[in-house]
Amino acid sequence: MAQQQPERRRGGGGGGLALLLLLLLLLLLAAALRPAEALENGLARRPPLGWLHWERFLCQTDCAREPHRCVSEQLFMQMADVMVSEGWRDAGYEYLCIDDCWMAPTRDKQGRLQPDPKRFPSGISKLAAYVHSKGLKLGIYADVGSKTCAGFPGSKGNYKLDADTFASWGVDLLKFDGCNFGTLAQLVKGYKDMSRALNETGRSIVYSCEWPLYQRPLQKPNYTEIKQYCNYWRNYEDVYDSWCSIKDILDWSALHQDDIAEIAGPGGWNDPDMLVIGNFGLSRDQQVTQMALWAIMAAPLLMSNDLRSICPQAKALLQNKEVIAINQDPLGKQGYRILADHKFELWERPLSGGGYAIAVLNRQEMGGPQTITFSTAILGNGLACNPTCWIQQILPTKRELGLHNWASAFKVLVNPTGTALLKTKVPEEKPAAGTRRPPEH
Ligand code: GLA
Repeated sequence: MAQQQPERRRGGGGGGLALLLLLLLLLLLAAALRPAEALENGLARRPPLGWLHWERFLCQTDCAREPHRCVSEQLFMQMADVMVSEGWRDAGYEYLCIDDCWMAPTRDKQGRLQPDPKRFPSGISKLAAYVHSKGLKLGIYADVGSKTCAGFPGSKGNYKLDADTFASWGVDLLKFDGCNFGTLAQLVKGYKDMSRALNETGRSIVYSCEWPLYQRPLQKPNYTEIKQYCNYWRNYEDVYDSWCSIKDILDWSALHQDDIAEIAGPGGWNDPDMLVIGNFGLSRDQQVTQMALWAIMAAPLLMSNDLRSICPQAKALLQNKEVIAINQDPLGKQGYRILADHKFELWERPLSGGGYAIAVLNRQEMGGPQTITFSTAILGNGLACNPTCWIQQILPTKRELGLHNWASAFKVLVNPTGTALLKTKVPEEKPAAGTRRPPEH
């Protein structure tokens, strides 16, 4: 059930009863004053995985002309079928999410949101039941303001009613957009009110926000606060099916990493937007880059593509178990860029067990594959390979790269706009005497 969990605190022993009572009082006061650190609804302990219709299917509402591509219950039922038959569910992709344009243009007589009757004739509860019968979860979309971005009814003034409606339908995730939000105060209050309303339904509903994206032009977002209300949140522009868009999102994320990376963790994640792998705009190497870097950034992995016709290469990349394992690493730390020049970038993400995921990105868009050389001493603040570490390449192909030490120079060949995704591992056996890095003076 989606309820705020009170923080557990350890009681201390005291001499007299009065001292004990005073201590208890102080502890209670401290607990009451201390804000929760994350939206403790027990959900999104790891970045959610799934599928979202927006980037690929946009707002196609003409099912007469585009029966195969319009936003309809048929599209979601077919996607649910394929998610099961083609191994997506088993790879971890769990949430099947509806974006904008599912609604009828007006609310019903009781003021409730309703789906377009032509495109969703069976209603959302039936669709949710179907999705659940496949072992998947259903996500839906609404907007904090007066209208959604595509002009359908917004939730402003109806947060409680809409949360209750979604819960009664059996919805498992809400993407809450921020178009037409009104004033900054209304934006912030709206996101908080919807969080509380979802919590009060008692149903487990993952809450995806775009609060910081809409707040940033007016005021610097307070991520500590945002994490208390949202399970993940968009910070930046919509992703497009192009290398330009992926580069732009990566540059923004690196530029703002001091503000956004630390706060991410179980229960609350930064969302750099959908994976567009398997569409039209990215080369094979650029798709590898998106997958690798979204894993490094501990991003929700929400694909927006056509799973009914995706090519085997894109499917293998999206279902790569080791990359998904990096994305889902239980330590839950978001990665960050540690080195960049105009030719290449190095990103790292600390993993549980003392290892690191490393992304070596070739930013040079001319010429052929580049050999990129770096010292292992810069990984993990000097700790990743001290005194030694195993390095394994995960993407674009799996390769063992052997045992390295803190003084190794490391070389890797990377195609233009591609990425080598590596993983360091701490060796199990003890290092031989004399191989530890001398302390720095
Ligand atoms: C905004 C969001 C997108 C998508 C569209 C739908 O642009 O950022 O992700 O939901 O609205 O209209």
